Amino acid sequence: MKLTAKQKELVAAAAAARQRAYAPYSHFAVGAALRLSDGSIVTGVNVENVSYGLTICAERNAIGAAVLAGFGPGDVVEIAVAAQAEKHVSPCGACRQVLAELSLAEAPVLMHRLPDGDTDISKLSDLLPKSFDSSSLPKKR
Ligand code: THU
Repeated sequence: MKLTAKQKELVAAAAAARQRAYAPYSHFAVGAALRLSDGSIVTGVNVENVSYGLTICAERNAIGAAVLAGFGPGDVVEIAVAAQAEKHVSPCGACRQVLAELSLAEAPVLMHRLPDGDTDISKLSDLLPKSFDSSSLPKKR
């Protein structure tokens, strides 16, 4: 898919971050980059653990970076994920929910396939339809 200059910058940030993934078990390095409401970019990589289930995906670590940078709900306006695979890698179910916490529903998710750089795009709300959100919580407690 054809990308704008800003989208090219976002996928390049995800691909650059990916070089720092800690993936000694799967050898599957993933980089994520988030465009924030002030135009800045934060990144994350997957961090694996010898106790495999404790692995944290690139997307969730990028959300942590956004929070650390002072951002909150609605501040993630575009998302990029970079990985080397035959098909375009899309965020896992857990990461979709965590991304939704801080992202606009219509945030484009740029799935950047390496090494050819082809990028598939879906809206976050299409990846996580009928999501659980705070409107389901009781108003007072
Ligand atoms: N992984 C991510 O970081 N993001 C994704 O979107 C898919 C999977 C990581 C988790 C694990 O470290 C490795 O990729 C293989 O599943």
